Amino acid sequence: MNGSEVISAAPTYLSLLSYAEQFGSPINMVPLDKNLVHDLDAMGGRITNKTGLIFVCNPNNPTGTILPAQQLRDFCSDVSSRVNVFVDEAYFEFIDQPYPSMIELVKEGKNVIVSRTFSKVYGLAGIRMGYLIARPDIAARIRKNRMSMLNIMAIQAAKAALTDEAFYKQSIAKNAEAKALIYDTLNDLKLESVPSSTNFVFFKTGRDIKKVIPAMKEYGVSVGRPFPPLTDWCRISTGKIEDVKRFNKGLRKMMT
Ligand SMILES: Cc1ncc(COP(=O)(O)O)c(C=O)c1O
Repeated sequence: MNGSEVISAAPTYLSLLSYAEQFGSPINMVPLDKNLVHDLDAMGGRITNKTGLIFVCNPNNPTGTILPAQQLRDFCSDVSSRVNVFVDEAYFEFIDQPYPSMIELVKEGKNVIVSRTFSKVYGLAGIRMGYLIARPDIAARIRKNRMSMLNIMAIQAAKAALTDEAFYKQSIAKNAEAKALIYDTLNDLKLESVPSSTNFVFFKTGRDIKKVIPAMKEYGVSVGRPFPPLTDWCRISTGKIEDVKRFNKGLRKMMT
């Protein structure tokens, strides 16, 4: 990257961006559109000869939104002839409709990097296991700047996770059940939200999140941090069904 600029949405997942900043890269943040989806036209419009990489988090954290598949594919295909494109697919497994991974573009030899993790659908966040899919020449360049090394226990756990179809199915099903319960409550309370393709739901309380966080703590629920500029929105992750019920009860109390 050598200090070249990164273009990303705002708000989005910040890890890669913080890492790029440590390497001296300025971040050029483009607000999400009115549906809280990446504004690809605006992001593409920001490309200059200083741009090194475009970061697309799809589904996006914290909103849970996904891009229209063909639009994303066309965008990545087009801009990757000029800049590196990084697509974070951490939540890809939770998308509940036929949806192409941008791994397809990697296979076509494009300048596209896709990341995946075992932290979400496989429930293995603590083992620190994830991977990138990229053209071999790009992978070789990235490997030199690797942030962490794998250990043998993490590799064994990941291998086991990949063969544990029952857990995978349960993870998807329980998450869908939990989200349905959350959306029921949000609809009841007439709180605006966006469709989530992840294991969390982003919704508008209309209240300052800095006040919502301690208020929900009172009911035993930790909600997400502030995501500027959407500081009157709130992110709640799914959990066990009893946890979700506790959230629903707490939210009803807080909002009335
Ligand atoms: C979009 C996104 N990418 C990556 C990660 C992190 O994955 P890992 O636990 O493998 O670092 C997260 C976790 O919150 C995330 O939301």
